[in-house]
Order: sequence, then structure tokens, then C-alpha cells
Amino acid sequence: MKIAVVGTGYVGLVTGTCFAETGNDVTCVDIDKGKVEKLSNGQITIYEPGLEKLFLRNVKEERLRFTTSLEDGIKDAEIIFLALPTPPGEDGSADLKYILGVADHLGKILKDYKVIVDKSTVPVGTAEKVHAAVSKNYKGEFDVVSNPEFLREGVAVDDFMKPDRVVIGASSERARKLMGDLYAPFVRSGNPVIYMDVRSAELTKYAANSFLATKISFMNEVAQLCERLGADVDMVRRGIGSDDRIGKRFLFPGIGYGGSCFPKDVQALVKSSNEVDYDFRILNAVMDVNERQKLHLLPKIRKYFKDDLKGKKFAIWGLAFKPNTDDIREAPALYMIDELLKAGATVSVFDPEAMANVKGVVGDKIQYADNQYDCLEGADALIIATEWNEFRTPNFLKIVTALKNKVIFDGRNLFEGDAVKELGFYYESVGRAT
Ligand code: UGA
Repeated sequence: MKIAVVGTGYVGLVTGTCFAETGNDVTCVDIDKGKVEKLSNGQITIYEPGLEKLFLRNVKEERLRFTTSLEDGIKDAEIIFLALPTPPGEDGSADLKYILGVADHLGKILKDYKVIVDKSTVPVGTAEKVHAAVSKNYKGEFDVVSNPEFLREGVAVDDFMKPDRVVIGASSERARKLMGDLYAPFVRSGNPVIYMDVRSAELTKYAANSFLATKISFMNEVAQLCERLGADVDMVRRGIGSDDRIGKRFLFPGIGYGGSCFPKDVQALVKSSNEVDYDFRILNAVMDVNERQKLHLLPKIRKYFKDDLKGKKFAIWGLAFKPNTDDIREAPALYMIDELLKAGATVSVFDPEAMANVKGVVGDKIQYADNQYDCLEGADALIIATEWNEFRTPNFLKIVTALKNKVIFDGRNLFEGDAVKELGFYYESVGRAT
């Protein structure tokens, strides 16, 4: 099939590359000339495990092309995916200016039937707005479909190639058939393609992310309670997770959820609810809990250092909002850095992938170490903010040698408390008695 993908950000690039990988002819469109040049020359612009290999192969085979011209990009395409940014506006609602701008442009250049697909996470009713924007100038036949993505950063290629489900919100049989054919190779294993109306598909995405965020905030509340009641959240997690109705996944407490999706989507769903005079009470609490959780370690740190952080040095392991990504959007580590600096402390950091991004935002207010052990040199305590695998079984002897005090504040519960304490560490984590 011939496909166009408008927007070569994270979602667009993964989508375009994975569709090319199954033999489709994909043209990606982006207004950023520099990006298009790079991508055309086989230089990948995002970090995502496994993507580069597929990207290079498909660029070489000429199944994956890049252009700055929307007209050129869509002219032969049967399906046009919109994978454009929807940044939150000041009031928390998703800003649709990019999507509607492209829809307007499409209306001026369409010549024959196309399926236009909203791939970005957009509020309920957006497909109707896209339809209206295209219709202003184009009087021919076309369909607007909602096909939300459920990709997790770090495993996006796998999620795309082997999706749990594909959700397609379409109002015409023609569009349903085309979309079904396109996705057939991805669901051979038997996972479902779930067809529904457009509005339900749009809401499905927000409901999925908000539910997952709720699971996390719920467990963070249980962790709070564990600390106060002398229980161990790891045990409680195992105890409840083996019930199929609850499930083992997404029950890990920590220093809050971050990233470009959960915070933005929960907020946007609350906003959408308010617009139809509904107060989505649970989600307000979910956001509230997450705000508090981001700084969960701070009172513990203050208590240990008797409220005097001035001149203390903290080493932070992990900056990305989660492992296997260089993404630092809404990363709890950044909030922590901010608070520590405000309190007059100095901070040295290490992250396997996200250092450059943090440097871009925080600049030279903190020190950037070459590796996880250099980061500890002369520090009064180690703080763990992201659960990268390489932090899980560190060389404790090296930690002891480098740190000034044997103190660890673990925001991701990486270590067995007893074992670390036996090594002589003062060790605090989230929701555990030890
Ligand atoms: C999330 C969803 O998982 C995807 O299905 C969705 O497609 C994507 O948003 C999106 O809307 O585009 P992602 O933001 O990449 O994916 O990250 P997750 O792996 O879901 O993690 C989100 C946050 O929750 C991270 O900060 C992570 O540390 C935190 N988390 C996750 C916990 O604190 N505890 C857990 O048990 C699981």
C-alpha cells in the first residue's frame, strides 16, 4: 500500500518505519528541512531501541522516503497518517493547531479519495474537526479515522510490530477495509483489531493512559500507607497482582509517573470532562498524588541531613523519565534537581542516554559525570531516580569508596533493603519498612 505519514516525531517515525518494514511504500512529511535532510541521508533523529536497523534497511530499499512537501508526500497515498504534536495549552487542553493546519492544507490539495488517520492522541471530537477543516475546500470523498497508538517509549518497535490490539474508529466500510488490510500483517498472531465509532476510539486512548496512571498513583498511595503502617509495598504488590483482575503489571511504586503522555493525557481528559460539566474526581486525585510523589524522597533526605542541605553534594543516577529512553519530559529527576539546588546543595548526575537533553535544559548548574561511579565522587548521598538496568546490580565496593557517606535514597526500589543495610548503608526507598 502507499502511505503518507505527516510528522516525523517519535510516533510518526516509528509508524512510518514499521509500515515500510511490512512492505508498504511510505513517504514521511515534515516541515523541518534539517530533519528531512538528515532522515533522507539515513541519519535517525530519535533514540529508540531497535528502530535504527529497520529505518536504515527501509531507507536503503527505498520503501521509506522523506519530504518537506505535503503535496508531494500525499499525492499517491491511499492513507494519510497525521502524527503531529498536540502540546497542552495553558489550560491543559490539547492544542490542535498543527493538526487542523495540516487538515486545512489537505483540503486545498486533495484530488481523490483518501483515508486521513488521526494517530496523535487527540480529544474526542477532533476527527470531526479535521473533517470540517478538510471539507472547507475539498468537496470530494474522504474519510477521517481515529487509530490511536499505544506505543511505549523504549519498546515502541515491538509494540508496533506486535500490538496487543489495534483500535480503529471509522464511520465507513471503505475506510475500515483499507485500515484492516494495512494492519493485517501485524495481528497475524490473533490479537484483535477492534473496530468502533470514531469518538469511542478517541476516548479509548485517554481512558487507557488515565487508567494506567491511576494504577500507578494508587500504588503510590499504598506505598505511603505502607511506610506509615510498617508494611512492605513489594509484598502487597505481589499479593494483589496475582489476582488476574488486578494484574501484575504497572503496580510499581516510585517517584511518580512522567513522560510526554501520562501527565498530558490525564490532564487533557480532566479538561475534556470539565467541558461537558463532568468532574472526573478520580483523575484529579491521580494528578495530585503524582505531584506529591515526585518529591517523595525529599522529606526523607531533609530528615537525614537535619534539614540542612546547604553545601551538601548529591549524586543522582538516572535522569530520563524511565529507562531505555533519552526522554526527560516531566522526569521526576528534574524536579528533584530543582529542589536540591534551591536548598543550596550541589548535584552531580549520570544517565546512560539522557545527559545531553538535561544539559540542554539545566545547563551548567549541575555536574555531568562520565559514568555512574564518577558521579558519586565526594557526594553525601546517592539518589536513584530511574531504574536503568545497569543500576540494578552495581559494584557496591566502588559506591562505598566514592561516596562520602554511605547513604542511598532509592526512588525506584532497586535494591533489597536488608542486603544494602548489611553493607553498612543508610537506605531509604519507597513504601518499604526496610
Ligand atoms: C505510555 C503508555 O504506556 C503507552 O501505552 C502509550 O502509547 C504512551 O504512553 C502514549 O500515550 O504515547 P510511555 O509514556 O512511553 O507510554 O511510558 P510507560 O512505560 O507507560 O511509563 C509511564 C510512566 O509511568 C513512567 O514515568 C514510569 O516510570 C511510570 N511507571 C510505570 C511507574 O511509576 N510504575 C509502574 O508500575 C509503571
